[in-house]
Amino acid sequence: MAGRIPQQFIDDLLARTDIVDLIDQRVRLKKAGKNYQACCPFHNEKSPSFTVSPDKQFYHCFGCGAHGTALGFLMEYDGLEFLDAIDEMAAMHGLTVPRESTGGSSPQQQAAARAERQDLYGLLNDISQFYQQQLRSASAAIDYLKGRGLSGEVVKRFGIGYVPDQWDSVKRRFGKNRDTERQLIDGGMLLQNDNGRVYDRFRDRIMFPIRDRRGRTIGFGGRVLGDGTPKYLNSPETPVFHKGRELYGLYEVRQAHRNPERILVVEGYMDVVALAQFGIDYAVASLGTSTTPDQLQLLYRTTREVICCYDGDRAGREAAWRALENALPLMQDGRSLRFVFLPDGEDPDSLVRTQGQQAFERLLDNAQDFGDFLFERLAQDSMGGDAGQHELAHKAAEAIMRVPEGFTREGLVTQLSRQLNWGENERRIKELFARLKPAEGEKNRRRARKNSS
Ligand code: UTP
Ligand code: MN
Repeated sequence: MAGRIPQQFIDDLLARTDIVDLIDQRVRLKKAGKNYQACCPFHNEKSPSFTVSPDKQFYHCFGCGAHGTALGFLMEYDGLEFLDAIDEMAAMHGLTVPRESTGGSSPQQQAAARAERQDLYGLLNDISQFYQQQLRSASAAIDYLKGRGLSGEVVKRFGIGYVPDQWDSVKRRFGKNRDTERQLIDGGMLLQNDNGRVYDRFRDRIMFPIRDRRGRTIGFGGRVLGDGTPKYLNSPETPVFHKGRELYGLYEVRQAHRNPERILVVEGYMDVVALAQFGIDYAVASLGTSTTPDQLQLLYRTTREVICCYDGDRAGREAAWRALENALPLMQDGRSLRFVFLPDGEDPDSLVRTQGQQAFERLLDNAQDFGDFLFERLAQDSMGGDAGQHELAHKAAEAIMRVPEGFTREGLVTQLSRQLNWGENERRIKELFARLKPAEGEKNRRRARKNSS
């Protein structure tokens, strides 16, 4: 693992960064007295209530209450995690971020690992360009994409390409020496068999580049042109690609919308691309079966409303349930989570093509709120009678207690009391929660101990 960034470096970086410069590069600021003003980038407004103070090195919006430092602005506005924001800020000053050594590896080794990651980003980007270029002369691949109804424009926007039916098209161009060959193996683009022979992982496939929030290519998904298996082959976990922490299409969503009002989570690459072509340019794919806590965090840093779209079958509902469970601790006030279940045999790609944008967006407008989904599911699972009610009350209360305190949580409590016909009887609800609280507290402590050990 990379070591910690020395606090001194962060302090210096913050001291060197002028918040007015940093924000002005993103939002045009106007001088107003001692301070600077603009229309707030974090909410919709016509007259400027967003101010930046050069003295205090702070921004504040009198409209929506957004406020923070230069670093905070970068994280919010560019949607970056702390470490990425530090990286970005360092890059603005032409600096590289030093790491303290953490026992195992020396600073030199860490610097080497970092340099290698940088090289890998560069290589993957070049490979993506190569795939796109290959597509131009691959008539079967072009026909396949046309057959799936994709326009040239959307293919370009998503950087979709094609890898020829050869054992070494990437190896030959990009793995010329031992070092780059090793990097491409680590980066998941080349494989080595037991005899030591090295060859391309992807052959004769439509290639979807997976990009991180900063637009760097970090991996690929490759689809067969016909009915072969596996239908999709994906990059493995690599030093730059961690499947559970990325979302296919998020970069493209952010290119279309700085602050998307909502983001739709779907299953497949093709779903994202087809939706974008039909004007629904705010969909991402979860790159696996279930939506992880990291992915949900990432989503809520970008938008307030997440709509998860799943098949209406049993597997789809299970996936939705897992997403719901992962999302509960993130459901603070102001955030929304809703679910859409599709008719049997349809996916967003097929549906948007047959129904069109408007009908599809109507489905989204009518998506089920997570609270309703929660109670529906618990009611289905519990038996009838008093025992069933009791069980439902317990399970619901346990779920509700994982939601941060606030209006959302209180709303769920009200919903629970209605569901149980305890509407009048606030006392019973209070007792139920009081009984659960110590147990839950103990569980959290245990969890904390486990995580820290
Ligand atoms: P689906 O099997 O539902 O395919 O897989 P799809 O997205 O509708 O693809 P098209 O329309 O036939 O082209 C959904 C997602 O599951 C992953 C991929 O991310 C895919 O987009 N998947 C599926 C794989 O990773 N490997 C596979 O072999 C199949
Ligand atoms: Mn499909």
